[in-house]
Amino acid sequence: MLTVNFHDLNTIEDDKLKFAVIMAKHEGKWIFVRHKERLTWEIPGGHREKGEDIYLTASRELMEETGAKEFRIIPVCVYSVTRDETKSFGQLFYSDVESLDELPNSEIGEIRLFNTIPESLTYPLIQPYLFEKVEKFHRELAMETIRPGNISDRIDIEELIKVMIGDENPNEISKLVVDDFFTNSSYHVYVIEILNVIKGFGVIKFNPFEGGNGIAEFVWLGIDKDSKRAGLGSKLVQYLEQFSRENGIRKIYVKTSVTNKSAICFWIMQDYKFEARMLDFSLKSYDDYYLGKEL
Ligand SMILES: CC(C)(COP(=O)(O)OP(=O)(O)OC[C@H]1O[C@@H](n2cnc3c(N)ncnc32)[C@H](O)[C@@H]1OP(=O)(O)O)[C@@H](O)C(=O)NCCC(=O)NCCS
Repeated sequence: MLTVNFHDLNTIEDDKLKFAVIMAKHEGKWIFVRHKERLTWEIPGGHREKGEDIYLTASRELMEETGAKEFRIIPVCVYSVTRDETKSFGQLFYSDVESLDELPNSEIGEIRLFNTIPESLTYPLIQPYLFEKVEKFHRELAMETIRPGNISDRIDIEELIKVMIGDENPNEISKLVVDDFFTNSSYHVYVIEILNVIKGFGVIKFNPFEGGNGIAEFVWLGIDKDSKRAGLGSKLVQYLEQFSRENGIRKIYVKTSVTNKSAICFWIMQDYKFEARMLDFSLKSYDDYYLGKEL
């Protein structure tokens, strides 16, 4: 009889943890490894060396068994396997693997990326439980969160702005822009993040036009280039609309260049209606559209 149980982190004495197992994702798929002398699949992981920090065991095993080069590791829980009255403990980790190198010379013959757990497993009585646990953890972790931006987010936000403006002097301009909206109280800055990484930001200004109460304007909205068309922009806009409603705003405007087709499509999908076209008489740039939405 064999049973697998889970325990919260730090509830089992550290020196009882003998293994580290890492369910790792690369390019959206799960990494499984095959031992040179077996035909079945395993989750990367292995024995903790004497005196080794369990986090170090996890990174070492991940590098040795998969060739992972750039990655981050997040602890999920402790697990125990009870076999014939003997219980052994290990720590389960999740890892995002950014890049993989050649497989180091080890007992692993092959690594493969799977959408889900493969059928042919070395430990079919254990691995499905570990997989299920980490998959659930990852689903919860991968959900986006929206929160107010603060000054410690400025570097991430500046990076997003640099890509958006593509100006001659992006470093300086993005710095000035961020300074401006973090020091002016009529601006409200929110960020959207996944796995604690900022994927986009939005800035809304309350009462931008003199004499017009209950009006707001989106002054910035940007989603990381690799995360576009995943619904993040819509979620941020809906969140900021609700925040505005709760603060007595009745109408929101947004200005966008007539050449920014993707933004125009986006705002139309959010129910913003064309209100005006601002002509650029200088002929140095392009006209802008003003779009608006009653809340
Ligand atoms: C505009 C922007 C914020 C949209 O964010 P996003 O997270 O990619 O948008 P979403 O995934 O929520 O898109 C929602 C809908 O908008 C429309 N849309 C978004 N991008 C589009 C594009 N490039 N072309 C056509 N339609 C688009 C689609 O209908 C989309 O739904 P679908 O993907 O199911 O078809 C993002 O593209 C961006 O950061 N652009 C650069 C900066 C910018 O132009 N900001 C706005 C200035 S006013």
